[in-house]
Amino acid sequence: MPQSKLFEPITIGGSTLANRIVIAPMCQYSAEDGKMTDWHLMHLGMLAQSGAGILTIEATAVLPEGRISYADVGLWDDATEAAIDRVLKSVRAWSHMPIAIQLAHAGRKASTAKPWDGGGQIAPDHANGWQTVSASDLPFAASDNPPVALDKAGMAKVREAFAEAARRSVRLGIDAIQIHAAHGYLLHQFLSPLSNKRTDEYGGSLENRMRFPLEVFDAVKAAVPEGYPVTVRLSGTDWVDGDDWQEGGWDSDSTVAISVELEARGCHAIHVSSGGLDPRQKIPVGPNYQVPLARAVKQAVGIPVIAVGLITEAHQAEAIVSTGDADMIAVARTVLYDPRWPWHVAAELGASVTASPQYLRCQPSTLKALFKTA
Ligand SMILES: Cc1cc2nc3c(=O)[nH]c(=O)nc-3n(C[C@H](O)[C@H](O)[C@H](O)COP(=O)(O)O)c2cc1C
Repeated sequence: MPQSKLFEPITIGGSTLANRIVIAPMCQYSAEDGKMTDWHLMHLGMLAQSGAGILTIEATAVLPEGRISYADVGLWDDATEAAIDRVLKSVRAWSHMPIAIQLAHAGRKASTAKPWDGGGQIAPDHANGWQTVSASDLPFAASDNPPVALDKAGMAKVREAFAEAARRSVRLGIDAIQIHAAHGYLLHQFLSPLSNKRTDEYGGSLENRMRFPLEVFDAVKAAVPEGYPVTVRLSGTDWVDGDDWQEGGWDSDSTVAISVELEARGCHAIHVSSGGLDPRQKIPVGPNYQVPLARAVKQAVGIPVIAVGLITEAHQAEAIVSTGDADMIAVARTVLYDPRWPWHVAAELGASVTASPQYLRCQPSTLKALFKTA
């Protein structure tokens, strides 16, 4: 069997990962006042035994009002930092898997119920609700309480909060930062002409709409040591630009443009997802549906590009990286459903993963070479 590309090491910034499988960030809606709980210890501990190249901590709010829901994880003060520290110390005692964190601000999509409680917006005058902010005062859904458009002082506060959370991430020994600029959250709200109607230097042209997200990126870079991996997650399109739209949304060309700009500023990888900005989106969901968006970025930059979205099969994942559509693949639901997915993929592709010695005896006798010991 030819050697698997998926299981070849890859370097992101100064960190070398054992393989090209990324565990995508996944909100758990199980924090208390922004603080990780024992659920996170269990959940991240489980994923840290998966054999993936890197594990990404869920969207972690840089300010309380930047949480999607009141049960989101945050990293905005010493208490939230200490809660992550407790979880990571336990996970790290038993796993060498590199761990990244996704730093986020939900903007106008904040102040919601947990998904299993309906996920709708909670009004500011209700328990667990608050006033949201955005690039402009346009709500996500017409029935939502409109956000307040950030003024310059508000933007400076957000920028500094990203930088401060980045400093805390480094102090926590987290291996990489991913800035969340996808899925219709605050930075994406600045990028898309559908949500950004500003008339100052942060709205209008593509250059102006990219300005604030790039300032946040620069602030994070300035807050971390030279070479420390800083990556960005983008939506490759809003999926709303059709003939019947008066004005197209954020699209693949814009994604390529910001990726080139991010690479020039020292970004170490681009993670290409899509959608989330506008309820009118029409997403052609299916296996590999976001891969063409990653491929477009990959053709324009030299840094690693990560593809994600309904990647569920070993040979599907292998084909994405071996044909050069992307350098890595990320999985979310796939690995929740099958937390040893990287083991099973390695077995199918004739490769090996690092496993903890406690689990070595489960290795099927036909797959003697599956495990490397930690
Ligand atoms: C439970 C759950 C929580 C998620 N939370 C986040 C998140 O915190 N940040 C983010 O960028 N995407 C989040 N996503 C999106 C995933 O990272 C991923 O992009 C998406 O699910 C597509 O990958 P998949 O088909 O492998 O699930 C979440 C997805 C799921 C299923």
